[in-house]
Amino acid sequence: MNFKEELDARTAQAEEVLKKYLPKEEGYQKTVVEAMNYSLLAGGKRLRPILMRETFRLFGGEGEVVEPFMAALEMVHTYSLVHDDLPCMDNDEYRRGRKTTHVVYGEGMAVLAGDGLLNYAFETAVKAFGTSGDGEILGRTAKALSVFAKKAGIYGMIGGQTADIEAEDREAGGPEQPVTEELLLFIHEHKTAALIQSAMMTGAILAGAGEEEIRRIEKCAYNIGIAFQIQDDILDVTSSLEVLGKAVGSDEKNHKTTYVTLKGMEQAKRDVESLSGEAVDILASFSGRNEFLEELVRQLAGREK
Ligand code: IPE
Ligand code: IPE
Ligand code: MG
Ligand code: MG
Ligand code: MG
Repeated sequence: MNFKEELDARTAQAEEVLKKYLPKEEGYQKTVVEAMNYSLLAGGKRLRPILMRETFRLFGGEGEVVEPFMAALEMVHTYSLVHDDLPCMDNDEYRRGRKTTHVVYGEGMAVLAGDGLLNYAFETAVKAFGTSGDGEILGRTAKALSVFAKKAGIYGMIGGQTADIEAEDREAGGPEQPVTEELLLFIHEHKTAALIQSAMMTGAILAGAGEEEIRRIEKCAYNIGIAFQIQDDILDVTSSLEVLGKAVGSDEKNHKTTYVTLKGMEQAKRDVESLSGEAVDILASFSGRNEFLEELVRQLAGREK
């Protein structure tokens, strides 16, 4: 099997897991559930659940305990996109090749759909406790849940989005402090790398990886996440709505300082390569190997969407 076929198969598997845990569109809350499923089922690369399961496999994980977490993380990620696209945030009209949730359902319902996805993510993740009666697995599940919660919150994704919003409109020499490389890395680490860390760390924890291994996975996922957001910043300049499924030029429109505006296009491309290379080296340093995962990280460096 070639890489593309393997990736397609894993994407389809992640999709199936997600579908198993979708909320039902019924009752007086039907509309919010429809809005949640609208954004969830719009497609998307399903990168985070794939990274989670592949890291789980890297450390010899077996069984279904990882599946509720895979679905839950895609829900948290999707909520972050629904809210990120709102008029009060990035104000974007396309996502995953479709009109954004607030355009279709209105702002109130989009806020609630995001809230619903975040809460339902936890309702889903705790289902992992029901997948096994083994005390050791239950302990790992509790530990994974705590990492999962933290990486989505103020010390993770929400913290990054906060700094991202505050950094808008800051220009060197203006009345505000300019966005430094240190601040931009804080933003990228939290708004984007945190959920990649969530994916890989929960996968490792659920498989029974040791403390030192989990720490190295956190660093590896940091690199993958920073590279992923730099590439996102690059594609916002170089790609198109047709290829990306979301509007390009969003960062310029919102006067964002990005990795490209700060370091230049050429340096940005080089840094994606070197961060990804380091991440692959970390993955290759464990006693178990997952060659698909290593190749996935290499391929992400050159991704076009
Ligand atoms: C978009 O994430 C938001 C960022 C963190 C850059 P993805 O590029 O993974 O979006 P989907 O899930 O494939 O739509
Ligand atoms: C968003 O970063 C990261 C999130 C937590 C949603 P961007 O604002 O650059 O993501 P896109 O380009 O809209 O997907
Ligand atoms: Mg944003
Ligand atoms: Mg955005
Ligand atoms: Mg972007």
